[in-house]
Amino acid sequence: MSWNRKHLLDIESLSAAEILTVLDTARAFKAVGERAIKKVPALRGKTVVNLFVEPSTRTRISFELSEQRLSADIINFTAEASSLKKGETLKDTAKNLEALNADFIVIRHSAAGAPHFLSRVLNSHVINAGDGAHEHPTQALLDAFTIRERKGKIEGLNVTILGDILFSRVARSNIWALTKLGARVTLCGPATLVPRTFEQMGCRVTHNVDEAIRDADIIHLLRIQHERQRQTMFPSIGEYTQLFGLNKARLAQTKPDSLVMHPGPINRGVEIDSDIADSDRSLILEQVTNGIAVRMAVLFLVNGGKGPQEIAAS
Ligand code: CP
Repeated sequence: MSWNRKHLLDIESLSAAEILTVLDTARAFKAVGERAIKKVPALRGKTVVNLFVEPSTRTRISFELSEQRLSADIINFTAEASSLKKGETLKDTAKNLEALNADFIVIRHSAAGAPHFLSRVLNSHVINAGDGAHEHPTQALLDAFTIRERKGKIEGLNVTILGDILFSRVARSNIWALTKLGARVTLCGPATLVPRTFEQMGCRVTHNVDEAIRDADIIHLLRIQHERQRQTMFPSIGEYTQLFGLNKARLAQTKPDSLVMHPGPINRGVEIDSDIADSDRSLILEQVTNGIAVRMAVLFLVNGGKGPQEIAAS
């Protein structure tokens, strides 16, 4: 057991041992999810505010389910119907939520660093549910959990992340997590979206998709993050699909046991062929399912939980 943190703000600052503690704790919570009674009292009497200031389907609902299974009281903050619209600052909004006895703030925000900022001005636990193009730590943890569950290990695997790396918080968090756990990470996509500066994070960069996926054990696809791009970074969606989309012909050239991942939302027919998304090579929905156990583990550990042995005994 290696965990002594009040917040989960990013993967960059975690050690491999801390990441493995989350994965082992999540494995114990996944077993709880297979019991007739799926709830545990770990957060009974605690209040969690889900402060989503940017759209979300998977992360928001996954956090809410995780909190329910830990017996927490939950407030779902709706930015559109809040006083943020009247000019209240994020700090004042969060301070008011804390004054209403919030013990945890789970925040998604378009500004990189928003969770780090809140962790400095609040006493509550802060969990990053995605901050701009910076990090999406629980996504990377659930991705690592899914890879380890399906492949039995992470160390030594070839993982190719294909798509819009530059604007992707999922890419950054996955790069940190996978390299810390000993995977060989290759990044691929248009040169405008996959600059060579990413090599400084310990990755290999290539702009040749067939070469990037040939030896991959995991092909991790990302959508084009139009909402963060300030200008068109490639000529057209059609050209992107032709040059970088994962289709049946490309997948046929990969290892027969290579698996396909995607954090969602997917754009069928753009970065991924629809048949591949629905095939038994795809882990997309397993990733979503595993998100519940991983987020339960994160909430449990930042609350001072003692690790997987405590859950097995509960
Ligand atoms: N993977 C992910 O973050 O999806 P949402 O934006 O729907 O939460």
